[in-house]
Amino acid sequence: MSRTCGIDPRTIVVELVQQVIDAGAPLDVGFQRAQYSIPEARRSWARDLSYGTVRWFWRLEDYANQLLSKPVKRADRSILFLIIVALYEIEHQGTPAYAVVSESVNMIKRSARPWAAGLVNAVLREFLRQQVRLRESPTSATAASAHPVWLRDMIFSVYPDYAPLIIETGNSRPPMVLRVDTSRIDRDDYLQQLHHSGYTGHASPRSQWGVVLPQWARLTDLPGFESGLVSVQDDGAQLTPIALELKPGLRILDACAAPGGKAGHILETEPQTELVALDVDPARVRRIHENLERLGRHATITTDDARNSDNWWDGRKFDRILLDAPCSGTGVIRRHPDIKHHRRASDIDQFTRLQRQLLTATWELLNFGGIMVYVTCSLIPEENERQIRSFMDDHSEARENDLGPQFGEKRSVGRQLLPGIHDTDGFYYASLSRD
Ligand SMILES: C[S@@+](CC[C@H](N)C(=O)[O-])C[C@H]1O[C@@H](n2cnc3c(N)ncnc32)[C@H](O)[C@@H]1O
Repeated sequence: MSRTCGIDPRTIVVELVQQVIDAGAPLDVGFQRAQYSIPEARRSWARDLSYGTVRWFWRLEDYANQLLSKPVKRADRSILFLIIVALYEIEHQGTPAYAVVSESVNMIKRSARPWAAGLVNAVLREFLRQQVRLRESPTSATAASAHPVWLRDMIFSVYPDYAPLIIETGNSRPPMVLRVDTSRIDRDDYLQQLHHSGYTGHASPRSQWGVVLPQWARLTDLPGFESGLVSVQDDGAQLTPIALELKPGLRILDACAAPGGKAGHILETEPQTELVALDVDPARVRRIHENLERLGRHATITTDDARNSDNWWDGRKFDRILLDAPCSGTGVIRRHPDIKHHRRASDIDQFTRLQRQLLTATWELLNFGGIMVYVTCSLIPEENERQIRSFMDDHSEARENDLGPQFGEKRSVGRQLLPGIHDTDGFYYASLSRD
């Protein structure tokens, strides 16, 4: 849908949030598109409004449901979404409540449902009167944790000691983490450039390449972004070159490479490698091209299914294979809060089947003495240590290489970084050598 900048950004956000929650639309893609209809000066505010409302949706919906005398009709759900977005703005963005109420009432008056202006006004004003009680009395576990019950229960059962912190972190605004190309600029020198440009940022304690900014900045404003000096990548994801034990002259397969975050990092860390970057999704493969072009790095980029090596493999084995597998994404919920809404417990079996097929197919392409690094951004053992344990049970030639504490807490095989515990997103890493 093309629009002009004359449309109120709140209207755009309300429509986007409804698309994400009711129609299963991906938030990242939706916001990418929608942002061009929002004046530049208001984009980072609109981004927080969109992501934050999706993040806290169940809690805010619970407030709204308690305040409405009867549920809104299905056909009028846009009214409910308008109220929920307004509640986020009042509760989390510090906009004066009177301004939010009046903007929201004006917005509904301009919409196809002007008759609901009184209702919106009454619900928001009632929220202001009852907010303390509402915060203290969520009516369900989903509203209290702002996580679906299956995921909350899984986190409590697998990580009983850490669960409250993992959930709290899942509901927090993520920091923006940059990866500095230290082959081109020293990290401390980049930090100075950043400070001179008016940003606060500090060196990541976990990654030697990482710089952490407390809040989101516009990419094109960051010094050196356009010229590829820095990329955006969580510091938990920046450990891949260490796990891969890179050295010059290796032939490497990045089997699930798009959009090319880890591929770019491999090439920055060890340019003297022959990297094949493969992904099955053509639209995402275009992003590998764009990203490597910005970084000024080269790989052989191929669109295909990693499981069908007959189609794309030239018969020369690899010294290293990175399998950054498709997964539930349960470790990156603070960055992608729509995962909480879109993922179902029943999806996990499909992911584990695909991961196992990818492991089995790509393992055959690994040289003897070579290393495969398996990574997910999942917290779910079936996708992580249980997956690798079961794979090793069937492959006696696979031997685990120890990854240090930098990679988080030891699991029965591999290591796990946990949001809130290790100051990164949630990642699982395992390194296997082929004897
Ligand atoms: C976690 S993402 C990879 C992120 C990437 N390594 C990075 O650092 O930017 C997983 C990727 O697996 C790809 N994928 C899923 N099934 C695949 C298959 N059968 N063969 C190759 N790629 C696949 C998806 O398209 C997705 O881009």
